[in-house]
Amino acid sequence: MSVWHISGGRRLSGSLAVQGAKNAVLPIMAASVLAPGQIELLNVPELRDVDTTVRILRTLGCGVEREGDAVNIDSRGLARSEIPHSLMRELRSSVIFLGALLARCGRARLSMPGGCELGPRPIDLHLMALRALGARIDERGGDLVCTTPEGLHGADIALPTPSVGATENAMLCACAAEGETVITNAAREPEITELQSFLRKLGAEVSGAGSATVTVRGGPLSARRVGHRIMPDRIVSATYLAACAAAGGDVELRGVCPEHFSTVLRSLSECGCDIMSKGARVRLRSDGNLTAPMPVITGPYPGFPTDAQPLMLAACLRAKGTSVFVENVFQNRFRFTEELLRLGARIHTEGRVAVVTGVQALHGAPAVATDLRGGAALIIAALSAEGRTELLDSGHVARGYERFDENLRALGADISRT
Ligand code: EPZ
Repeated sequence: MSVWHISGGRRLSGSLAVQGAKNAVLPIMAASVLAPGQIELLNVPELRDVDTTVRILRTLGCGVEREGDAVNIDSRGLARSEIPHSLMRELRSSVIFLGALLARCGRARLSMPGGCELGPRPIDLHLMALRALGARIDERGGDLVCTTPEGLHGADIALPTPSVGATENAMLCACAAEGETVITNAAREPEITELQSFLRKLGAEVSGAGSATVTVRGGPLSARRVGHRIMPDRIVSATYLAACAAAGGDVELRGVCPEHFSTVLRSLSECGCDIMSKGARVRLRSDGNLTAPMPVITGPYPGFPTDAQPLMLAACLRAKGTSVFVENVFQNRFRFTEELLRLGARIHTEGRVAVVTGVQALHGAPAVATDLRGGAALIIAALSAEGRTELLDSGHVARGYERFDENLRALGADISRT
């Protein structure tokens, strides 16, 4: 259990290099078991979710060495295709190993990933896609026992909703499925395009990522040495900019892809922030007195990212007027707002809609982080509140943010973590 100690009311200023993307590196680490090879990943962030994935790879028999921001994976020694429940519990997205293990070993056993604070996290679309490719999946006492009795074969997979994880799982499994697989209504997130570029380095024939139709021509993948640099994290980028918008200041981010979070930049600019982006740099200036933006309506990429909704909501707590948020991706992604009320925020939630009435000032108060992005939102609110906030956090924020307190302190915030 960590406790974040924040004294708000200080402006943020400075320049920051943004970490590698959590939601790109996790599927790429799973993909590293597709073929026996030596993989060097660079710009890998130091996150709890990455540490858990390293433990999963080692449990499967891979060699994994971490040196600074590099992670070297030797998947030639892969000897098991089962992931223990204890590791599955820690990381929902470990279900992504299903497709990779079926492709490499023809079988896999892992437990149903837990739900989480965002509401139920079903994996029915993952299972539908893998079954279409020839996998036989039995649910036995909370475990998924997967085999490929007749091998894997190409298939047409139509996703009812553009699920990021189901798209990734289907792509990985299809790499070993004889023939052509066409995934329609595929997720279009930048992390999918990043996964495609990694799979191509492994020798896989994948195309269409970033569009709604991804095509994979399956076949044997030969062993090879592969290097890949992880793309910057668009949600972490949005987090630091939302913090500067809320607290006021002048912050520049380096090594980012502004086009990956252009919807967030648009909303921040509607709030009155002064935003300049040039190449891989984005600079935001704010006097901390914002105005309510146009309604923030989340949706699959290229819509407003659901992961940035809590961050934008926190930035709008003192914005003049009424800010409206519609959460279309997850059923229960407003739980963190109950904690924001303790800091004096005025928020009314009704199902998928949250209405924020701007208040003159927020005041520091004890609060609890309910999930990863909700925890980041509470820190943003505390930075723009008067007085001290103590935020209890059972490790949520560290799952997605590398050196968050250190980076915010370097930008002038009065924040520490015990
Ligand atoms: C990925 O989760 C991200 N996680 C999430 O980021 C992100 O919020 C989400 O995509 C949406 O962009 C990783 O990449 C590790 P989905 P994922 O499958 O793949 C429903 C963060 O904060 N659904 O696109 O689990 C599901 O319930 C995390 O970094 C099914 O119904 O998201 C949800 O309502 C949070 N059946 C919607 O689809 C399925 O089989 C979108 O989920 C799968 C999903």
